[in-house]
Amino acid sequence: MVEYKKNVYVFDHPLIQHKLTLIRDKNTGVKEFRELVEEIAMLMAYEVTRNLPLKEVEIETPVGVAKCKVISGRKLAIVPILRAGLGMVDGLLKLIPAAKVGHIGLYRDPETLKPVEYYCKLPQDVHERDIIVLDPMLATGGSASAAFDYIKRYNPQSLKLMCLIAAPEGIERLTQDHPDVEIYCAAVDEKLNDHGYIVPGLGDAGDRLFGTK
Ligand code: PRP
Ligand code: URA
Repeated sequence: MVEYKKNVYVFDHPLIQHKLTLIRDKNTGVKEFRELVEEIAMLMAYEVTRNLPLKEVEIETPVGVAKCKVISGRKLAIVPILRAGLGMVDGLLKLIPAAKVGHIGLYRDPETLKPVEYYCKLPQDVHERDIIVLDPMLATGGSASAAFDYIKRYNPQSLKLMCLIAAPEGIERLTQDHPDVEIYCAAVDEKLNDHGYIVPGLGDAGDRLFGTK
């Protein structure tokens, strides 16, 4: 993992980079795209959860008593930004099956590029939880910033964003609006085009995940 700037980390693991290349390819179909997004999310989750606190427990093995470690009481919630964030959820739940899942429904108005909120539902004990927001694309940063504005009303313990591809413009916006949020991504691309799409990016993540256009 490489530190791009304060609180912004890029995953350089070969498996993540390889799979990211496959999803960028315009010839990758819906089924493979979906599977790869889930796999990348799972690999990223392994690193993002590296600092979860452990506590010691005693268990009986068939041969004797062992002092071992388990993850201690800290609670997590994952919060996909609809729709495209949904593609990352199962990857995280495979590693953290007890995590609660909130949802934030936002779409980007194609003219103004501003996020429009249409649904929000978070676990009721958000104030006790570490939050990992999921969205494959951080473009202008408007959607992620609005999502964190919303979540912060409930005073969570900590906030992280996991995305696949970030634009420098989105990183700039999010680190200014929410300097306390840790951002994890698999790549920082070149720029945004005139329509607010990440270049070279992977196109429209939601459409590629769900086969819409
Ligand atoms: C995409 C993406 C992010 C947002 C990023 O969602 O999944 O949520 O755009 O753009 P921003 O950083 O400029 O806000 P989109 O609005 O296309 O909705 P969808 O996931 O429902 O397709
Ligand atoms: N949303 C996407 O799905 N892709 C982009 O490149 C930008 C926003």
